[in-house]
Amino acid sequence: MNYEQFGLVNTKNMFLDANAGGYAVGAFNFYNMETFAAILAAARTTRSPVILAVSESALKYMGDKMLMSMIRGAGIQPNEQIALHLDHGHSFDACAHAIDLGFSSVMIDASQMPFDKNVELSARVAEYAHKHNVSVEAELGTLAGFEDEKTNSPAESFTHPDQAAEFVSRTNIDSLAVAIGTSHGAYKRKSNNETLRFDILEKIDKLMPNFPIVLHGASCIPDVLVDIINQNGGALKNAHGIPIDQLRHTAEMNVCKINVDSDNRMAFTAAIRETLNQNPEMFNPREYLNAAKSAVYENTVGEIINIMGSVNKVVS
Ligand code: G3H
Ligand code: 13P
Ligand code: ZN
Repeated sequence: MNYEQFGLVNTKNMFLDANAGGYAVGAFNFYNMETFAAILAAARTTRSPVILAVSESALKYMGDKMLMSMIRGAGIQPNEQIALHLDHGHSFDACAHAIDLGFSSVMIDASQMPFDKNVELSARVAEYAHKHNVSVEAELGTLAGFEDEKTNSPAESFTHPDQAAEFVSRTNIDSLAVAIGTSHGAYKRKSNNETLRFDILEKIDKLMPNFPIVLHGASCIPDVLVDIINQNGGALKNAHGIPIDQLRHTAEMNVCKINVDSDNRMAFTAAIRETLNQNPEMFNPREYLNAAKSAVYENTVGEIINIMGSVNKVVS
């Protein structure tokens, strides 16, 4: 199935426009009807291009047919500039499968492999994807956080700008995810006093002017959401994210795509905890899921405005 049949677009023009306009396109992860509907509604009301991100495990959770039926049912139009993206594809087969389903963009994450193996696999995915006019993201460097947990990788290794330039020219990828101090999950290793490695972004931009750069692990982990969760029976200790002004600064530089998953997970969970706590008699899932859906919508709209800077960038 080609993604055009679903009204989706690849990320090529999105990133060209984002680079020229000094903003980023938000890539928001979803995993059920509520998160999908909320993120799409946020894109539509803000008239913002958005990347709908699905991880391998989220795809397994929703199922191929359920996911693609939801996408079709949403009536997405090409002028809305919505991409469907495989987040952290770990194999050629996972990427090819997503492309065959109708995804318009894939990430091949071979960042844990030695450089040459990462080049080889990323180039192979790029060759297949480009035959289908699908965009390809790959990653160089290692983020701290869940990548460590999953792989027991000892530590973060920042992306080396010279290697990045060589990687891009040898793989023919369309965007590059870099490690500059962000990390996945609610417990970012950076404190609020530490700054991202903007110097790495600058060096990459000198070597590859305007090449689209991607930031993973970019949730800001709002204190207000952590507090709501903790005040309603949760136990999130020392959860901190990346400060909004730093994310915004990367968007004004060469970062064209900023990935957010944890913030919306928190918004969803905070709303359910608070709603059930305040309404102990409630047992209709539609009621508390509606609160969760609204919370994800509000959070996504807020991040599109305050982090991405992509409001009203959809021109039709
Ligand atoms: O960066 C990874 C995303 O947060 C997806 O995580 O595999 O638990 O869906 P997941
Ligand atoms: P967060 O865990 O910071 O939301 O990162 C999400 C991400 O990088 C998805 O690929
Ligand atoms: Zn990620």
